[in-house]
Amino acid sequence: MRRFDAEAVHHLTVRALAVLSTLPLAKRLLHRRLAPRDPALRISAFGVHFPGPLGLAAGFDKDAACAEGIAALGFGHVEVGTITAHGQPGNPRPRLFRLVRERAVINRMGFNNEGAAAAARRLRRPRGLPVVVGVNIGKTKVVPEAGAVADYVESAKELAPLADYLVVNVSSPNTPGLRDLQAVELLRPLLSAVKEVADGTARRTPLLVKIAPDLADDDVDAVADLALELGLDGIIATNTTIRHGGETGGLSGRPLKERSLEVLRRLRARVGDRLTLVSVGGVEDVDDVWERLLAGATLVQGYTGWIYGGPLWASRIHRQLSRRVRRHRLTSITEIIGRTA
Ligand SMILES: Cc1cc2nc3c(=O)[nH]c(=O)nc-3n(C[C@H](O)[C@H](O)[C@H](O)COP(=O)(O)O)c2cc1C
Repeated sequence: MRRFDAEAVHHLTVRALAVLSTLPLAKRLLHRRLAPRDPALRISAFGVHFPGPLGLAAGFDKDAACAEGIAALGFGHVEVGTITAHGQPGNPRPRLFRLVRERAVINRMGFNNEGAAAAARRLRRPRGLPVVVGVNIGKTKVVPEAGAVADYVESAKELAPLADYLVVNVSSPNTPGLRDLQAVELLRPLLSAVKEVADGTARRTPLLVKIAPDLADDDVDAVADLALELGLDGIIATNTTIRHGGETGGLSGRPLKERSLEVLRRLRARVGDRLTLVSVGGVEDVDDVWERLLAGATLVQGYTGWIYGGPLWASRIHRQLSRRVRRHRLTSITEIIGRTA
């Protein structure tokens, strides 16, 4: 598949998984074979039960079109989005580039998605598989900074009632000005307003914020303090980095591993177990997942690792995690969370 255009392969894969999501027998059979079923891998976070720690990061299922197909391949959760209040085409193509030797990807997709109402319609459809679905929201490109809070609130109103957890994404590099919203003066009113919406749903939707790896260490601490102050449920770290010498866009995959782990360690040192930390960035194999859990992550996500690891990537890692849990004579994988922190 690597010989074909990266975005064409992406759309083909989404379409195939969307079809799989509509086939009751096929998806159940695959799910039975590939989804994590070992009770020792179960994790509870912010009141939600996850069958295993490894989920698919945001950016693959941008329109919430194929979450069941993804879960059938063995992911413990699926974060859909980024979804914006209004549909938008994203940046001109080409906007997705593989760096095969580096095991990395550069993207400047720019939140191409059909908008919150279209995603909500799909999320309302009854599901045939038990899938944990997080919903990641961002700012519509044409909305100026002054309208950002209202724009996020519009998405949150539509999507929070349908999400197992909600993520405020202020860290993608491909929407001009978006990452400036990570500054505490701008982030406080934004998170407060979205939290009010999330708190108002029937089951109080857990709320997390997703941050960039390019924040200075002091700013990572400031966001962590703010998340505690506002009573958020967790932090997802990290998004892609703009610190690289290639095509314009955000870099993901192996070169991001070190900084992503560093941000996780910093967050854990700051907040301990008072927030759920979700670690993402450069996760390639079972050793990476194990290391993130030890460093204090409760959940781990990957995207680029899946591109290079093949369709059964998540299922394989969950199986290897099961074996490792047994080898260490643990009754639950949760026993290792934060052990090296
Ligand atoms: C093609 C592509 C599109 C992405 N789109 C989004 C997005 O819409 N929203 C978001 O929060 N993160 C997005 N990301 C970032 C990933 O969710 C993840 O944070 C990042 O890629 C680091 O993880 P990885 O090294 O496992 O890929 C995207 C990543 C890629 C490769």
